Amino acid sequence: MHDTKIEYSSAAKWLHWSVAIGIFVLLWLGLQQAGMERGPEKLELRALHASVALIVLALMAVRLVWRFLNGVPAHPDGIPGWQRAASTLVHWGLYISVFVQLISGSMTVATGGNALPFFGLFSVALPIVENDESHEFWEEIHEFSWVIIAVLLIVHVLAALYNHFVLKNNVLRRITIGVRKGS
Ligand code: HEM
Ligand code: HEM
Repeated sequence: MHDTKIEYSSAAKWLHWSVAIGIFVLLWLGLQQAGMERGPEKLELRALHASVALIVLALMAVRLVWRFLNGVPAHPDGIPGWQRAASTLVHWGLYISVFVQLISGSMTVATGGNALPFFGLFSVALPIVENDESHEFWEEIHEFSWVIIAVLLIVHVLAALYNHFVLKNNVLRRITIGVRKGS
């Protein structure tokens, strides 16, 4: 179950890919509603966006705890120092920017005087007072920080593809199908 020296555990793999899918869905839903006219459809899409985001928030919290308890596999041999540093920086950059996005989204809703919806089943009211100024502040952060996530994500995916297809090492396999025996 624990992350071994060369491969991620199945829990870490599931958490990585479910969060990744969640974030792609959130980027799509967020941008989709941004382009819509005011009205009930826009509000519905926003509520769906916020509901999916609550799942991602829960998964990210579990993931962060898992990472602190289990760590991550060491870099494969022969990776230059600057690439190791860049990889660590991008991974932590992703954690931070995703949390900023989750917090700013929740604060946008809460300072707007609303509870966080969850698929119409229940809603979570944060102990935050409605306030126009802070609403605008958090909204601006939320409308900007997804760009940081997108840029880091592009670097992250290109690095994964470079490792897999150019360096031909186990970096992509160790978080997907697993490292082949003897490699
Ligand atoms: C990783 C998590 C998240 C991602 C990637 C994300 C992404 C986005 C994007 C791309 C937009 C459109 C921004 C724009 O208009 O330029 C947006 C808008 C919005 N998001 Fe999120 N979001 C996330 C989490 C949340 C959470 C946790 C909530 C609330 C519970 C939330 C509530 C909203 C709201 C209310 C808007 C509309 C704000 C506005 O008026 O522009 N988001 N989100
Ligand atoms: C929004 C989506 C994504 C986020 C937030 C994300 C974040 C992360 C983070 C933080 C790690 C470090 C391990 C950990 O702490 O769990 C990681 C590892 C990894 N990710 Fe992603 N990732 C995303 C999407 C992707 C995609 C689409 C690919 C595929 C091309 C990918 C490929 C990898 C690989 C290969 C590793 C292992 C790197 C290593 O072991 O050094 N990720 N990801």
